[in-house]
Amino acid sequence: MTTLHLGQILSFDGSPFDEGPTAAWHERQGGLVVGDGRILAVGPADAMRMSHPEAEVIDHGEGLIVPGFVDAHAHYPQTGMIASWGKRLIDWLNHYTFPEEMRFADPAYARDVAGRYLDLLLANGTTSVCSFCTIHPHSVDALFEAAESRRMRVFAGKTCMDRDTAPEGLRDTAQGAYDDSKALLERWHGRGRASYVITPRFSPTSTPDQLRALGALWAEHPGCPMQTHLSEQTDEIAWVKSLYPDARDYLDTYEAYGLLGPGGLYGHAIHLEPRERERLREIGASLVHCPTSNTFIGSGLFDMDGLAREGQIIGLATDTGGGSSFSMLRTMAAAYEIGQLRGRPLHASELLWLATQGSARALRADDRIGNLAAGMEADFIVLDLASTPAIAQRSASAEDIWEALFPTIMMGDDRAVTGTWVAGERTRVG
Ligand code: GUN
Ligand code: ZN
Repeated sequence: MTTLHLGQILSFDGSPFDEGPTAAWHERQGGLVVGDGRILAVGPADAMRMSHPEAEVIDHGEGLIVPGFVDAHAHYPQTGMIASWGKRLIDWLNHYTFPEEMRFADPAYARDVAGRYLDLLLANGTTSVCSFCTIHPHSVDALFEAAESRRMRVFAGKTCMDRDTAPEGLRDTAQGAYDDSKALLERWHGRGRASYVITPRFSPTSTPDQLRALGALWAEHPGCPMQTHLSEQTDEIAWVKSLYPDARDYLDTYEAYGLLGPGGLYGHAIHLEPRERERLREIGASLVHCPTSNTFIGSGLFDMDGLAREGQIIGLATDTGGGSSFSMLRTMAAAYEIGQLRGRPLHASELLWLATQGSARALRADDRIGNLAAGMEADFIVLDLASTPAIAQRSASAEDIWEALFPTIMMGDDRAVTGTWVAGERTRVG
């Protein structure tokens, strides 16, 4: 069956970081034609009606149709401890995160959180996520099964930790991490919309043997993404230096063991040395900006302007539950605020691009998700640009689409998401 969605439409022909806001395409009266889970055509409403007279029409009125948001770094097991008070990274991990992740020893708990988490994402307009799981292999099955039943394109992997810096009960071994990750990869990677992501948590919780084993697994499956954390807090960097005295810098702890490559996703990447920036760019690795987490845990200010200018691949993410929100709207607002603190206010087109195409590109999935164009998978949302009285009174005087959208980016939440479509079908939530 073919469906024609009518409304305002925003999509991208290029990156606003390279071309400015004209990289985006806005149609006030647009039409999005969807069939078999894919976008068949997009353009002016009248032209779409003419070319697809058989399509069932769904009219979203003034609603703005944009691609579903793509969250490039999150920890679904931290759903239950989001917004925990008063700690910085290392204490926060020990005090809140690890105890919560231990609860995932119970497969029923993992299933419960996985479903709840994905429903929260859909309600917030996020249709794809790249998530860490826990060390328990069944925590990966739980998320992929929940994603499969919602038909979502999800990227995830078993979090590996074998050093005694992680608590008893949350430790695997170098060989066990390799074996479990390989078995999960073979079970899930490429099944439906699932992608397996090789996932060493970060170098402080892995031994060199484990990093080497996961580097070997990645070399055997270079088409899989690999995700980890890099240079989030200065205390963490000092810790890495003490654990890896021979490493040139933090990135070298990954590079030395085969964990630096294209398709590598490096969360945070705030306090980078010049050599690290140069290597990341040369390799075509992806940096993932997690702004609500960086302010919440007190990590620092990501250098979006400098990193984008030097040609780094950059995605945007919540980092739930270090991040303080499930919403990519709130995440865009935080990226704007950090940009302001660094003297570079990001344009609404850049914020929307980061939350859709940018993250999809970081995941090397921008040919399938994160944009509205013929052939892409039909993951999209409808935004109400007047979802609260405060937003409505501001957007009423907007002179163009960016001025109309920006108040929703800055002040919007799940009330702004009036509908979420995954692979062409409306979801129950959102
Ligand atoms: N570094 C290692 N693990 C984590 C985590 O769970 N959250 C954040 N924000 N940083 C980390
Ligand atoms: Zn993280």
